Amino acid sequence: MQFVIRGGKKLEGEITLSGAKNAATKMMIASLLTDELVSLENFPAIGDTAITAELCRLLGSKIKQKQSTLTIQTAKITNHKVTSLSRRNRIPILALGPLLARAGEAEVPFLGGDKIGARPVDMHIDGLRALGAEIEIRGESYHAHAPQGLHGARIELDFPSVGATENIMLAAVLANGRTTIANAAKEPEIIALIKMLQKMGAIIEIGAHRMITIDGVKKLHGTTFEILPDRNEAASFGCLAVATGGNVLVKGAIQEHLITFLNAIRRVGGEYAIEENGIRFWRTNGLRAAEIETDTHPGFMTDWQQPFVVLLTQAKGASVVHETIYEDRFGYIKDLNAMGGDISVFSKCLGELPCRFNGMGFNHSVIVNGPTPLRGKNLTVRDLRSGIAHIIAALVADGESTISGIEEIDRGYAHIEKRLRALGADIRRA
Ligand code: EPU
Repeated sequence: MQFVIRGGKKLEGEITLSGAKNAATKMMIASLLTDELVSLENFPAIGDTAITAELCRLLGSKIKQKQSTLTIQTAKITNHKVTSLSRRNRIPILALGPLLARAGEAEVPFLGGDKIGARPVDMHIDGLRALGAEIEIRGESYHAHAPQGLHGARIELDFPSVGATENIMLAAVLANGRTTIANAAKEPEIIALIKMLQKMGAIIEIGAHRMITIDGVKKLHGTTFEILPDRNEAASFGCLAVATGGNVLVKGAIQEHLITFLNAIRRVGGEYAIEENGIRFWRTNGLRAAEIETDTHPGFMTDWQQPFVVLLTQAKGASVVHETIYEDRFGYIKDLNAMGGDISVFSKCLGELPCRFNGMGFNHSVIVNGPTPLRGKNLTVRDLRSGIAHIIAALVADGESTISGIEEIDRGYAHIEKRLRALGADIRRA
């Protein structure tokens, strides 16, 4: 399957955000912590939630979906070993905590997911070990057991990892005693997961200085929870609107989750308005160059970087982008250059301060010279966010582009071609 796109149109109209991919999948795993029914509203019908549903079903979950509500109940863990699962996303390792709590033992496969860096899971494993899990590697899977059950621990993360924070929280909520996570991630999706766990009966404090404190409880119960709108979709569609010179209302976009992104849009000369039911994006004048550095929340998110670089190809002057979260997230630049972009990649840190990739030889900074017209090209998707960058670039470009490998895009963006067609895009799945 591929997308065939004819670019050069200004996109106009309204687009509604789906529920956040990076919250929905974790919330499905959180549902494994109880034998009662969990309902997830505003549930996104995307590849990553389908992969996670496959995982949960293998563990014993009964899952139903009616319109945008998913109900999931795992009355009993019928299987604590899911090594047969194909390694397609980052979620299985998060099931270790719930499986240890309910079955005392777990085996999950090594992770798949986007090829954007080495993506080690050392902080996940160290955190679970601190909570009392015995973990060993068997072939290509992690085997964990906790004969005495899990207990509270003081854990300090080397880096505020989203996945490690979630993994430790999901294990600590049913552990015996208090767990503290210092240097924890506090992305909006993590706060949402905390809110859901709290509704299920967990005790979790969000303290100052990235400290999360969890007092373990004996049992969690079912709940109904509405998944927050996807801020990564919002940023993608905001870039799309401004890059094509169109005018798009992104319905459901939440200003609080996008403060840094909105500042960046204004700095490059894009415009936005906070409206009652979303955020509208457009541009009146030409765009100007900017300096961007990705960071943990509330900084400029790494998942906004790729669509934003497409936008910067249309801005006047030399823009600088320093990627500090993943060491290998500029693989798509060669495609933008093939389309007519003028982007140079550097291993040096092109930020105010060196980041943890300094001197390691990773290509993690770029200079984008613009504006450059783009022309249609045949492209292959490398990972989810560079896939959406391909789509935006193709919609900006003159002529026809084909984009193959689109299952990666389907993992995170529901029915993207239909939603973009409603904005006037010439895009079809072939
Ligand atoms: N890291 C380690 N050791 C660990 C864990 C992480 O070194 O044990 C490193 C990673 O290699 C990376 C950095 O820490 O360099 C940040 O990784 P983090 O754990 O925060 O990311 P993640 O949980 O694997 C999630 C999202 C990503 C998003 C990042 C950053 C999910 C499923 N994925 O990944 O989303 O970019 O947080 O916010 O929630 C996407 O949606 O396209 C995507 C890649």
